[in-house]
Amino acid sequence: MKLNDTQKKFVEDLLSKMTLEEKVGQLNQESPSIVGGFDVPFGELIEMLTDGRISQEEFERTMANAERDYHEDDIRAGMVSSFLDSDPRKINELQKIAVEETRLGIPLIIGFDVIHGLRSVYPIAIAEAGSFDDELMEKTAQMAARESRAYGVCWNFAPMIDVARDSRWGRVSEGPGEDPFLGSRFARAKIRGLQNGVDKGESYVAACTKHYVGYSACEAGRDYNTTSMSISQLYNVYLPPFRAAMEEGACSAMASFNDLNGVPCTVNSYTLRDILKGEFGLEGFVVSDANGIKECVTHGIAEDDIDAGVKAMNAGLDMDMGTHIYYEHMLQSVKDGKVSEETLDEAVRRILSVKVWLGLFENPYVDEDVIASYEKGVPQQHTELCLKAAEESIVLLKNEGGILPLNKSAKFTLVGELADREDEVVGAWSLGWKKEECVSVRQGLEKAGAQFDYYPVCGPESNINEDELKAAIASDCDIVVAVVGEYKSMSGEASSKADITLPGCQKEMLRKLKEAGKTVVAVLMNGRPLALGWEKENIPAIVEGWHLGIEMGTAIAKVLFGDVNPSGRLSSTFSSMNGQEPLYYNHPNTGRPGSKSKFTSKYLDAPIEPCFCFGYGLSYTSFEYSDLKLTETDDEISATFTLTNTGKREGTEVAQLYMQDVCASLVRPVRELKDYARITLAAGKSRQVTLHLKKSDMGFYDNQGKYVVESGLFRIFVGGNSVDTLAAEIRI
Ligand code: BGC
Repeated sequence: MKLNDTQKKFVEDLLSKMTLEEKVGQLNQESPSIVGGFDVPFGELIEMLTDGRISQEEFERTMANAERDYHEDDIRAGMVSSFLDSDPRKINELQKIAVEETRLGIPLIIGFDVIHGLRSVYPIAIAEAGSFDDELMEKTAQMAARESRAYGVCWNFAPMIDVARDSRWGRVSEGPGEDPFLGSRFARAKIRGLQNGVDKGESYVAACTKHYVGYSACEAGRDYNTTSMSISQLYNVYLPPFRAAMEEGACSAMASFNDLNGVPCTVNSYTLRDILKGEFGLEGFVVSDANGIKECVTHGIAEDDIDAGVKAMNAGLDMDMGTHIYYEHMLQSVKDGKVSEETLDEAVRRILSVKVWLGLFENPYVDEDVIASYEKGVPQQHTELCLKAAEESIVLLKNEGGILPLNKSAKFTLVGELADREDEVVGAWSLGWKKEECVSVRQGLEKAGAQFDYYPVCGPESNINEDELKAAIASDCDIVVAVVGEYKSMSGEASSKADITLPGCQKEMLRKLKEAGKTVVAVLMNGRPLALGWEKENIPAIVEGWHLGIEMGTAIAKVLFGDVNPSGRLSSTFSSMNGQEPLYYNHPNTGRPGSKSKFTSKYLDAPIEPCFCFGYGLSYTSFEYSDLKLTETDDEISATFTLTNTGKREGTEVAQLYMQDVCASLVRPVRELKDYARITLAAGKSRQVTLHLKKSDMGFYDNQGKYVVESGLFRIFVGGNSVDTLAAEIRI
């Protein structure tokens, strides 16, 4: 986000005209309060959902049907800066009040959770990152920006770029997986897609990177839990995607709920002022997460609401989401000298700057014609892009004896309640989709003209329906396609799990089908890496389908029948069993790496190896790597190798380059991803491929947060995943 001189002057002029009250008003984000069914503010409604007083379904129903209070009087009084909503006509009404009925006519900035698409929902981030396709990631974000703007949303609470290493944490679904490098490329692509329309005359929104920072390092994978880590770990693992996003000009960030080394991120001036605004140069603003400021009292870091507001403001937290604390107390805190007017001005300047950059002063309203066209349906190119993203995100985990692809004319049996749930394909944090635009796996197979009988048998929470199981077993088909996994509510916020194996009776269903002599193809629908030890041993073909968005069913059918050759890779390590978590590939070396010998770093009762490693994924063809050569220039190392498609059909390989700093002043990871490329090759063809590693990227941050590049021996690995690689060494 860059403002020109005229825009900067506009902001300063406006700021100079504002009263203290109007400035405080710019710090306040509102959301509609639900009246009627639940006469509580949105924040509390979230709490009710979180503590189980209402179910996810009740919450969604309430949100859809309840009468809402839009706080029009507060808007009129100039006490609202931002609104959290996505109803375009309502947004126009609220905006009209802000623009026409307040003294200075400052427009509202409308924020919303458009995490993986608004109406045209594409794969959850953990899946899409596995496409290793930066261009695709950018295009889907651009599509989300287009739809957001059409709905009046100009500020997306995305990308979520928490590097997540513990699959028990439900929010692994929302982010790009476990790797800081892939996470950084994802972050850059998303910021470009969301924001760069400003230079191209296309739709654009302000991005809100989140959750800043370390949220995903919650102890034991339990959401909102405490986090503690060294400064080098913070800098090397959790900050890189945020640094990358800021380099791309991200407009804003959301402070995370967690405390980091004892200081909640909402009131953490080290992470907010020193790093984000100082070192990374954020020019826009920071918003709290919902209710975050108030929770500082519960954390035990602030005595009361007033104290929490003062601490947050002084730490660099510019906008209050959901608590009214700034609204109610900031004026007095400034008058009392607890917050300086300069600090207040700085926050307001940042918020106004984003509003100016968004063009809201010239063009505050939603175009009613565009809304009308969306009411008729989404543009076809959006559906097509959702399909492409879904196809590229599917990961073939196992295909013993080449069971897949299936022959379209051969009859099979379809089981699993999830197969018939078009409302489940959209994953966690999708809010604008329409059921009739979603394709379930069953519908996708039907559309593809497949011959099958369907028996739900069981789902993630139900018992096995014995009659249906009997019928599935009695059918004269050898092949059973079983769609199994998690409901979308089993991942996402407040959805941590201690048991990440296939939930409910689904494994039992698979076992019984196998024992009955069926050849089972498991299609997984899930929001987190599941512990798949048993499935890997016992099921001959496994397709990782995640929650792939509205075109899930179409994409799965294409992969099952071979119309699409799978090319997705895992953006996160999969464990074999629960106790292995957190399991991630780029861990530091120990002095006693696990081996056969007893006194090494391992378990007595579980493997230390992953079930499926980071970067892993099969194809209907096969690839071979050979002739790795390293060359060095002043600035970079190039790894050149020959990639050969050794199979019988065209396919796309994700070639990956990893590095190990063999000896350094801090213990370094055993491997670190440093480059990747998607390469499509016809059957039998070879190509020379070069992946790159800049010397300036071969360093790391020390425990003072200082970046150091040390000379010495480096191992370079290239291959199709993080384990099976060619290796070479170089001393620099
Ligand atoms: C979540 C954020 C989200 C916000 C607003 C919070 O509960 O942690 O990710 O953006 O709500 O909906």
